Amino acid sequence: MKTEVLKLLKEYDGYLSGQEICQRLGVSRTAVWKVIKQLQSEGYQIEAVRNRGYHLTASTDVLTEAEIRSCVKGELMGCRVVCYEETDSTNTRARALAEEGAPEGTMTVAERQNAGKGRRGRSWSSPPGSGIFMSLVLRPDIPPSQASMVTLAAAVAVARGIRQATGVQAMIKWPNDLVLSGKKICGILTEMTTELESIQYAVVGIGINVNTEEFPQELSGTATSLFLETGSSWKRGPLVGEVAMAFEDCYRLFLASKDLSLLKEEYEQHLSNLNRQVTVLDPAGSYGGICRGITNDGQLLVEQEDGKVRQVLSGEVSVRGIYGYV
Ligand code: BTN
Repeated sequence: MKTEVLKLLKEYDGYLSGQEICQRLGVSRTAVWKVIKQLQSEGYQIEAVRNRGYHLTASTDVLTEAEIRSCVKGELMGCRVVCYEETDSTNTRARALAEEGAPEGTMTVAERQNAGKGRRGRSWSSPPGSGIFMSLVLRPDIPPSQASMVTLAAAVAVARGIRQATGVQAMIKWPNDLVLSGKKICGILTEMTTELESIQYAVVGIGINVNTEEFPQELSGTATSLFLETGSSWKRGPLVGEVAMAFEDCYRLFLASKDLSLLKEEYEQHLSNLNRQVTVLDPAGSYGGICRGITNDGQLLVEQEDGKVRQVLSGEVSVRGIYGYV
């Protein structure tokens, strides 16, 4: 009911009478009053004026189930939302829920992770109050070999979601980092459990540096946040909502073609190294070339000096621009 009251207050510009809320939700005035008190204690500024009703004058930056549900407008992503004040990793939580049969679109979100996971076995710094740590359960009907494309679709979605919520256009560093001013603002980690040649479930985990004011020294050269780039702090609930809605759209487009053909144009528009010199750090031998975009299945196209275009598979290699991380 808290979600419903919050939704009504957010939708309504002026004062909404207690009676109207009661009628719309079929609950008592006392129940409404109790929820309003709870929301106020969580930090929402709600004016209560006799004979006029309630007016939400300012939201707060909390990642509660009610806040996220009030921001998610799609049907699939966020159909179920589970929030943690602190957890090990939202990916691990989403996997556990998926094992129990959680439906596609189930979302886990944490204020803080104490064992946040990054790609290639690295950890993901997850201090409280400043970032978004969210994971989504997927059950795509595709072979495991095609799962990496879901991560690229997620990168398009995060870029779109950040733009919708903040107006900031992040770029994509192939395959799935989001960058601003040449530094990483978001990382995506897809994990899956397979059964013979099919995916039992996949979990897409998204970490966005939102209001981080300072990074540990070892990260400060390569990481940035929306706060550091814009000078403003951002409410995370609406950002989670926009990312979830954008991912719902991108995921459907991916499933419709079972490749990235419907997302390739948007991906390449934001590809940070497009038409620039890159170095491909292949364990079998590094080589340079000009980045020419991606294939429909998400491989990077790198044109070598002799004109030959090589296709780079994600997971095997890293790609660097000639001026450092990006
Ligand atoms: C990367 O190394 O770039 C991927 C980082 C992914 C971090 C996110 S935060 C939410 C989710 N839970 C995790 O433990 N990891 C992902």
